[in-house]
Amino acid sequence: MEETHIKSDCEEAKEIQIKSDFEEQEEIQVNPDCEEADDEFSDITLRPFDRSDVDDFMVWAKDEKVSKFCTWEPHISKEETMNYIIDYVLPHPWYRAICLKNRPIGAITVRPNQGNYSCRAELGYVLAYNYWGKGVMTRAVKMAETAIFTEWPHLQRLEALVDVDNSGSQRVLEKAGFQREGVLRKYRIQKGKAIDMVMFSFLCTDSVAHYYMNRVGVPSHMTLLRFAAWENYLTTLVLEG
Ligand SMILES: CC(C)(COP(=O)(O)OP(=O)(O)OC[C@H]1O[C@@H](n2cnc3c(N)ncnc32)[C@H](O)[C@@H]1OP(=O)(O)O)[C@@H](O)C(=O)NCCC(=O)NCCS
Repeated sequence: MEETHIKSDCEEAKEIQIKSDFEEQEEIQVNPDCEEADDEFSDITLRPFDRSDVDDFMVWAKDEKVSKFCTWEPHISKEETMNYIIDYVLPHPWYRAICLKNRPIGAITVRPNQGNYSCRAELGYVLAYNYWGKGVMTRAVKMAETAIFTEWPHLQRLEALVDVDNSGSQRVLEKAGFQREGVLRKYRIQKGKAIDMVMFSFLCTDSVAHYYMNRVGVPSHMTLLRFAAWENYLTTLVLEG
């Protein structure tokens, strides 16, 4: 999984040549119509970060419960978090705040690849501890799936790598329609130890199955619009029909 919050990835991020359409992004507010939509945490939005988000960002960045399954260590100062936002978050091609009432409670990222690997991109996410277990990340991942296959039409595969012991994150991906592909043994050094990781993927062509498996009843107008965007050829038909 893309490390949604790692200082050491700064240099790697600077090498990414794909132009960010960062400024052109509008806040994503579509309703995925999923079963998590019935409470106060259903009204989440995704938007780019800003420097003024530093205090909210620190809530999870300094929390060792959040960093447990990640390579990064908890932040120890506001300056460290601000530098991270400036050096890594703002230049990143797709680093979004997961917001409740426009205040970030977590982050979700998609990092593209280049050249022969540009058909795939890597998903990553973190959520502040107080919001765990409320369906927020499942919902955010579904929103990211919709957004990324629409914004990057060349993309065919969204993948995520998860620590074998991070059962919560694996469950999130399964609920969001990802397929578990297998275990990569001793794949990454994490907190000084080589760990096994599970590879998950979601293909652009998985969207139809994903949609109908996760829906009950007649699709809403917004659902049809999003379906059309994913499939990339029904848009005009749906809008005019
Ligand atoms: C992993 C994480 C993203 C889960 O987010 P979340 O919003 O709490 O997840 P959801 O509420 O959408 O839960 C989805 C499913 O996972 C399950 N789940 C969530 N956390 C779990 C945990 N720690 N252990 C077991 N199951 C868990 C939920 O019960 C739910 O399954 P269910 O509907 O069958 O009951 C969140 O705990 C987190 O940010 N962890 C720290 C960062 C991290 O590990 N990021 C990913 C790798 S870098």
